[in-house]
Amino acid sequence: MKDPIGSHPTRAEQLDILVTIIAEMARPGDAILDLGCGTGYLEHLLLAARNDIFPIGVDRNLDSLATAAAQFGTRAAFVRGDLTALDAIKPPRERCRFAVTALTFHDLSDVDKQAVLAWMAAQLEEDGVILIYDRLRLTEPSLFAMQRAIWNRIERINGRAMRTAATFAAYEADLSETNRPARLCDYETWFEALGFGSQILHLHGNVALIGAARR
Ligand SMILES: C[S@@+](CC[C@H](N)C(=O)[O-])C[C@H]1O[C@@H](n2cnc3c(N)ncnc32)[C@H](O)[C@@H]1O
Repeated sequence: MKDPIGSHPTRAEQLDILVTIIAEMARPGDAILDLGCGTGYLEHLLLAARNDIFPIGVDRNLDSLATAAAQFGTRAAFVRGDLTALDAIKPPRERCRFAVTALTFHDLSDVDKQAVLAWMAAQLEEDGVILIYDRLRLTEPSLFAMQRAIWNRIERINGRAMRTAATFAAYEADLSETNRPARLCDYETWFEALGFGSQILHLHGNVALIGAARR
Protein backbone atom coordinates (compact mmCIF):
# COMPACT_ATOMS: atom_id res chain seq x y z
CA MET A 1 0.00 0.00 0.00
CA LYS A 2 1.31 3.46 -0.92
CA ASP A 3 1.55 6.01 1.87
CA PRO A 4 -1.32 8.48 1.33
CA ILE A 5 0.83 11.18 2.99
CA GLY A 6 3.98 10.20 1.12
CA SER A 7 5.17 13.79 0.67
CA HIS A 8 6.00 14.11 4.39
CA PRO A 9 9.82 13.87 4.57
CA THR A 10 10.27 12.30 8.02
CA ARG A 11 7.11 10.21 8.24
CA ALA A 12 8.39 6.91 6.81
CA GLU A 13 11.13 6.68 9.43
CA GLN A 14 8.93 7.77 12.30
CA LEU A 15 6.10 5.39 11.38
CA ASP A 16 8.66 2.61 11.12
CA ILE A 17 9.85 3.42 14.64
CA LEU A 18 6.27 3.44 15.94
CA VAL A 19 5.55 0.09 14.28
CA THR A 20 8.84 -1.37 15.52
CA ILE A 21 7.93 -0.50 19.12
CA ILE A 22 4.55 -2.21 18.81
CA ALA A 23 5.93 -5.20 16.90
CA GLU A 24 8.55 -5.81 19.60
CA MET A 25 6.20 -5.34 22.57
CA ALA A 26 2.98 -6.95 21.34
CA ARG A 27 1.71 -10.26 22.63
CA PRO A 28 -0.22 -12.47 20.17
CA GLY A 29 -3.79 -11.23 19.87
CA ASP A 30 -3.10 -7.75 21.24
CA ALA A 31 -5.46 -5.05 19.98
CA ILE A 32 -4.11 -1.71 18.75
CA LEU A 33 -6.51 1.20 18.73
CA ASP A 34 -5.60 3.79 16.06
CA LEU A 35 -7.46 7.10 16.32
CA GLY A 36 -7.76 9.01 13.04
CA CYS A 37 -6.76 5.94 11.02
CA GLY A 38 -7.59 7.45 7.61
CA THR A 39 -7.34 4.86 4.83
CA GLY A 40 -5.48 2.36 7.01
CA TYR A 41 -1.82 2.91 6.18
CA LEU A 42 -0.68 2.32 9.77
CA GLU A 43 -2.80 -0.85 9.91
CA HIS A 44 -1.03 -1.99 6.74
CA LEU A 45 2.38 -1.42 8.35
CA LEU A 46 1.35 -3.07 11.62
CA LEU A 47 0.00 -6.20 9.95
CA ALA A 48 3.07 -6.43 7.73
CA ALA A 49 5.22 -6.41 10.87
CA ARG A 50 3.05 -8.76 12.95
CA ASN A 51 0.24 -10.89 11.55
CA ASP A 52 -0.95 -11.98 15.00
CA ILE A 53 -2.15 -8.60 16.28
CA PHE A 54 -5.49 -6.88 15.76
CA PRO A 55 -5.59 -3.21 14.69
CA ILE A 56 -8.79 -1.25 15.28
CA GLY A 57 -9.01 1.98 13.29
CA VAL A 58 -11.33 4.84 14.19
CA ASP A 59 -12.08 7.76 11.89
CA ARG A 60 -14.98 10.08 11.19
CA ASN A 61 -14.49 9.91 7.41
CA LEU A 62 -16.68 7.15 5.96
CA ASP A 63 -14.89 7.05 2.59
CA SER A 64 -11.53 6.56 4.29
CA LEU A 65 -12.98 3.83 6.51
CA ALA A 66 -14.46 2.01 3.50
CA THR A 67 -11.06 2.10 1.74
CA ALA A 68 -9.38 0.83 4.90
CA ALA A 69 -11.92 -1.92 5.61
CA ALA A 70 -11.73 -3.28 2.05
CA GLN A 71 -8.05 -4.15 2.46
CA PHE A 72 -7.80 -6.29 5.55
CA GLY A 73 -10.93 -8.46 5.86
CA THR A 74 -11.22 -9.83 9.39
CA ARG A 75 -7.56 -9.06 10.23
CA ALA A 76 -8.54 -5.55 11.39
CA ALA A 77 -11.67 -3.64 12.40
CA PHE A 78 -12.68 -0.13 11.38
CA VAL A 79 -15.16 1.89 13.38
CA ARG A 80 -16.76 5.21 12.56
CA GLY A 81 -16.16 7.71 15.32
CA ASP A 82 -15.70 11.41 15.92
CA LEU A 83 -12.99 12.17 18.45
CA THR A 84 -15.04 15.13 19.65
CA ALA A 85 -17.91 12.77 20.59
CA LEU A 86 -16.07 9.99 22.41
CA ASP A 87 -19.03 8.40 24.20
CA ALA A 88 -20.45 7.27 20.87
CA ILE A 89 -17.28 5.38 19.84
CA LYS A 90 -17.62 1.65 20.47
CA PRO A 91 -14.42 -0.30 19.70
CA PRO A 92 -15.03 -4.05 19.24
CA ARG A 93 -12.56 -4.91 22.05
CA GLU A 94 -13.17 -3.84 25.63
CA ARG A 95 -9.45 -3.23 26.28
CA CYS A 96 -6.47 -2.62 23.99
CA ARG A 97 -2.76 -3.03 24.65
CA PHE A 98 -1.85 0.00 22.52
CA ALA A 99 -3.68 3.23 21.76
CA VAL A 100 -2.01 5.24 19.01
CA THR A 101 -2.71 8.25 16.85
CA ALA A 102 -0.72 9.46 13.85
CA LEU A 103 -0.79 13.00 12.48
CA THR A 104 -4.32 13.56 13.78
CA PHE A 105 -4.06 15.36 17.14
CA HIS A 106 -3.30 18.72 15.50
CA ASP A 107 -6.87 18.59 14.11
CA LEU A 108 -8.30 18.71 17.65
CA SER A 109 -8.65 21.57 20.13
CA ASP A 110 -6.52 21.26 23.26
CA VAL A 111 -9.66 20.49 25.31
CA ASP A 112 -10.49 17.66 22.91
CA LYS A 113 -6.89 16.39 22.87
CA GLN A 114 -6.98 16.10 26.64
CA ALA A 115 -10.36 14.32 26.55
CA VAL A 116 -9.10 11.90 23.89
CA LEU A 117 -6.00 11.09 25.97
CA ALA A 118 -8.23 10.29 28.98
CA TRP A 119 -10.45 8.14 26.75
CA MET A 120 -7.41 6.35 25.30
CA ALA A 121 -6.17 5.65 28.83
CA ALA A 122 -9.57 4.21 29.75
CA GLN A 123 -9.42 1.80 26.76
CA LEU A 124 -6.06 0.38 27.81
CA GLU A 125 -5.13 -2.85 29.50
CA GLU A 126 -3.25 -2.38 32.77
CA ASP A 127 0.14 -2.56 31.02
CA GLY A 128 -1.07 -0.77 27.90
CA VAL A 129 0.74 2.17 26.32
CA ILE A 130 -0.20 5.30 24.40
CA LEU A 131 1.79 6.46 21.37
CA ILE A 132 1.22 9.91 19.89
CA TYR A 133 2.87 10.83 16.61
CA ASP A 134 2.30 14.46 15.64
CA ARG A 135 3.82 17.90 15.26
CA LEU A 136 4.64 19.84 18.43
CA ARG A 137 3.63 23.47 18.81
CA LEU A 138 6.48 25.99 18.55
CA THR A 139 6.23 28.71 21.16
CA GLU A 140 9.54 30.59 21.25
CA PRO A 141 10.05 33.38 18.67
CA SER A 142 13.69 33.73 19.73
CA LEU A 143 14.40 30.07 18.85
CA PHE A 144 12.58 30.09 15.53
CA ALA A 145 15.73 30.64 13.42
CA MET A 146 17.11 27.35 14.81
CA GLN A 147 13.91 25.51 13.94
CA ARG A 148 14.07 27.01 10.44
CA ALA A 149 17.63 25.74 10.01
CA ILE A 150 16.44 22.24 10.90
CA TRP A 151 13.51 22.45 8.47
CA ASN A 152 15.91 23.67 5.76
CA ARG A 153 18.22 20.74 6.44
CA ILE A 154 15.32 18.25 6.29
CA GLU A 155 14.30 19.74 2.95
CA ARG A 156 17.88 19.68 1.63
CA ILE A 157 18.38 16.03 2.60
CA ASN A 158 14.95 14.69 1.65
CA GLY A 159 14.22 16.88 -1.37
CA ARG A 160 10.87 17.85 0.11
CA ALA A 161 9.63 20.00 2.97
CA MET A 162 7.37 19.45 5.95
CA ARG A 163 4.89 22.12 7.04
CA THR A 164 7.10 25.16 7.62
CA ALA A 165 6.94 28.96 7.78
CA ALA A 166 9.42 31.70 6.96
CA THR A 167 8.95 33.65 10.20
CA PHE A 168 7.48 33.02 13.63
CA ALA A 169 4.65 35.44 12.81
CA ALA A 170 3.89 33.43 9.65
CA TYR A 171 4.03 30.21 11.71
CA GLU A 172 1.48 31.59 14.16
CA ALA A 173 -0.70 32.94 11.34
CA ASP A 174 -0.75 29.42 9.83
CA LEU A 175 -2.30 27.94 12.99
CA SER A 176 -5.97 27.09 12.43
CA GLU A 177 -8.80 24.72 13.32
CA THR A 178 -6.97 21.92 11.50
CA ASN A 179 -3.44 22.96 12.45
CA ARG A 180 -3.15 23.43 16.19
CA PRO A 181 -0.45 21.11 17.53
CA ALA A 182 -0.06 20.93 21.29
CA ARG A 183 2.99 22.07 23.24
CA LEU A 184 5.25 19.38 24.67
CA CYS A 185 4.62 20.71 28.18
CA ASP A 186 0.86 20.32 27.64
CA TYR A 187 1.26 16.64 26.80
CA GLU A 188 3.38 16.17 29.92
CA THR A 189 0.78 17.90 32.09
CA TRP A 190 -2.13 15.99 30.56
CA PHE A 191 -0.40 12.62 30.98
CA GLU A 192 0.66 13.52 34.51
CA ALA A 193 -3.00 14.21 35.40
CA LEU A 194 -3.87 10.70 34.17
CA GLY A 195 -1.16 9.10 36.30
CA PHE A 196 0.92 8.36 33.20
CA GLY A 197 4.61 8.98 32.73
CA SER A 198 5.49 10.23 29.26
CA GLN A 199 8.57 10.94 27.21
CA ILE A 200 9.62 11.76 23.69
CA LEU A 201 10.72 8.51 22.05
CA HIS A 202 11.79 10.13 18.79
CA LEU A 203 11.92 13.66 17.45
CA HIS A 204 12.54 14.83 13.92
CA GLY A 205 12.39 18.60 13.57
CA ASN A 206 9.22 19.43 15.48
CA VAL A 207 7.51 16.10 14.71
CA ALA A 208 7.47 13.93 17.80
CA LEU A 209 6.71 10.37 18.74
CA ILE A 210 5.61 10.47 22.37
CA GLY A 211 5.16 7.37 24.49
CA ALA A 212 3.15 7.20 27.70
CA ALA A 213 2.36 4.48 30.22
CA ARG A 214 0.86 4.23 33.71
CA ARG A 215 3.38 4.94 36.45
C1 LIG B 1 -3.66 13.49 8.30
S1 LIG B 1 -4.80 12.20 8.39
C2 LIG B 1 -3.81 10.90 9.10
C3 LIG B 1 -4.34 9.54 8.77
C4 LIG B 1 -3.54 8.38 9.34
N1 LIG B 1 -3.43 8.44 10.78
C5 LIG B 1 -2.17 8.30 8.73
O1 LIG B 1 -1.21 8.70 9.39
O2 LIG B 1 -2.05 7.85 7.58
C6 LIG B 1 -5.84 12.69 9.77
C7 LIG B 1 -7.03 11.78 9.95
O3 LIG B 1 -7.71 12.17 11.16
C8 LIG B 1 -9.10 12.11 10.93
N2 LIG B 1 -9.76 13.01 11.88
C9 LIG B 1 -9.54 14.33 12.05
N3 LIG B 1 -10.34 14.82 13.01
C10 LIG B 1 -11.08 13.78 13.46
C11 LIG B 1 -12.10 13.64 14.43
N4 LIG B 1 -12.55 14.69 15.14
N5 LIG B 1 -12.66 12.43 14.64
C12 LIG B 1 -12.24 11.34 13.92
N6 LIG B 1 -11.29 11.42 12.98
C13 LIG B 1 -10.71 12.62 12.74
C14 LIG B 1 -9.28 12.55 9.48
O4 LIG B 1 -10.50 12.10 8.95
C15 LIG B 1 -8.06 11.89 8.82
O5 LIG B 1 -8.36 10.59 8.38
